[in-house]
Amino acid sequence: MSLLSTAIFVVHVAFLVQKFSYLLLPYGPAADIPPGRGPHLGPRADPSNVSLRLSNKKLTKIYERVDEGKDPLVIKPETVILNNEGKIFVLSENGSLVTVVDIQETDQPFISTAKAIEVAHLGTGRPLSGKFHQDGCLYFVDVIMGLARICLDGIMNSERIPHVELLASRVQLDDGSYSPINYADDVDVGPKTGHIYFTDASNARSDRDVRTGIYDIMYGSKVEGIRMNLSGRLLRYKPETGEVDVLITDLAFANGVAVDKDETYVLCVSTFDRAVFKYHLDGEKAGQVERLLDQFPGVLDGIDCSFQTGKCYVAIPSTVSAPLVALMKLPPFLSKLVRTLLLMLPRNATPAAEPFGGFAEIDPGASNSPASIIRVFQDPDGRDIDFITGVTEFGGKVYLGSLHGNFIGVYDLALIPSF
Ligand SMILES: *[C@@H]1O[C@H](CO)[C@@H](O)[C@H](O)[C@H]1NC(C)=O
Ligand SMILES: *[C@@H]1O[C@H](CO)[C@@H](O)[C@H](O)[C@H]1NC(C)=O
Ligand SMILES: *[C@@H]1O[C@H](CO)[C@@H](O)[C@H](O)[C@H]1NC(C)=O
Repeated sequence: MSLLSTAIFVVHVAFLVQKFSYLLLPYGPAADIPPGRGPHLGPRADPSNVSLRLSNKKLTKIYERVDEGKDPLVIKPETVILNNEGKIFVLSENGSLVTVVDIQETDQPFISTAKAIEVAHLGTGRPLSGKFHQDGCLYFVDVIMGLARICLDGIMNSERIPHVELLASRVQLDDGSYSPINYADDVDVGPKTGHIYFTDASNARSDRDVRTGIYDIMYGSKVEGIRMNLSGRLLRYKPETGEVDVLITDLAFANGVAVDKDETYVLCVSTFDRAVFKYHLDGEKAGQVERLLDQFPGVLDGIDCSFQTGKCYVAIPSTVSAPLVALMKLPPFLSKLVRTLLLMLPRNATPAAEPFGGFAEIDPGASNSPASIIRVFQDPDGRDIDFITGVTEFGGKVYLGSLHGNFIGVYDLALIPSF
């Protein structure tokens, strides 16, 4: 080929790539990774620490007892929800709010079973997490729909028919324009004000797998991990006015949210920074954001704080694979190019997370004491529990949700270590 025809060919290809880039790159190209950001920063997991295995006698797994001829209800419970009385709820993959009752031990040590009852159907989306409010309603986030609530007292005393109210699917920005909430991920309720704090993980929308009809919410997070667009946000909804405002922007997949007992701050997880951020609601630093902790052995997901002990728990769904670390460490131009090419691959060609189960106990710190990671509990090859996405503390126990299992994990913090 002559130089001229090569040039014409290249121009044509460039034109076609640009014209059809929405097909190749529906979520846009990879972004530059600012210094100090990204999933490659942080320590590796210690493979010898098996503190979360069943053999350590502190983890119990609760499986559903499914009646013959019935379909199971506890399907990939991302986060376990407890009400004030300790009643257990999960949100199922097909949009059901399910309560888990009558827990019974089995012959196998640390394996229990329970009945699951559908309380309500929450709509056509994919609810991930929820929190009961002082007003008796369950506020929940649905990846597809946004922030919603259902007031269950109607079910309990049949005075009113419970229905789902969609509260926020977009947020008004300072310039007056509206920005859609594309991936509502986690929610917490302010114990003092009753305000709702919730995350919008990414601007990458999830869609249904056409074969199964199930929403593919994992792909959106994979896209964000590779693309690093930093479009995650922490948002706040005020029930009294219906307003939504933005508290934190530029998070690398905004995931778990937890408020402290005095509602002086909100913790928010940035999954692909492996970091917990703190937004000050009160005091001298009100309105400021601080990167609180980031030396975790993997990427992070849900977070929850105990109002009794002041300690918080953060889920570590997976470690970061060596190829991903290498990719992030390439020279910026090359890294961006390779990551953009990866985003063009068919979605089933994107690598799956290596099996790992873990969560960390953290001290969120105070004005006179620094924050710290106290303990890391892990099942390093995910043998007994894998891909923990939600942690909920209640009565000295941490309830563990997972997108890779159809059971609930319960870790008893109070038991004396057996090693
Ligand atoms: C993130 O994605 C949005 C929408 O696709 C785009 O407008 C924005 O420029 C991207 N940001 C970066 C840092 O690439
Ligand atoms: C949700 O799935 C379960 C199990 O497949 C099924 O029993 C239940 O009827 C479903 N609920 C709805 C509303 O689709
Ligand atoms: C594993 O981690 C737990 C919690 O941090 C800690 O108590 C224990 O000593 C560690 N075990 C090993 C073998 O490192």
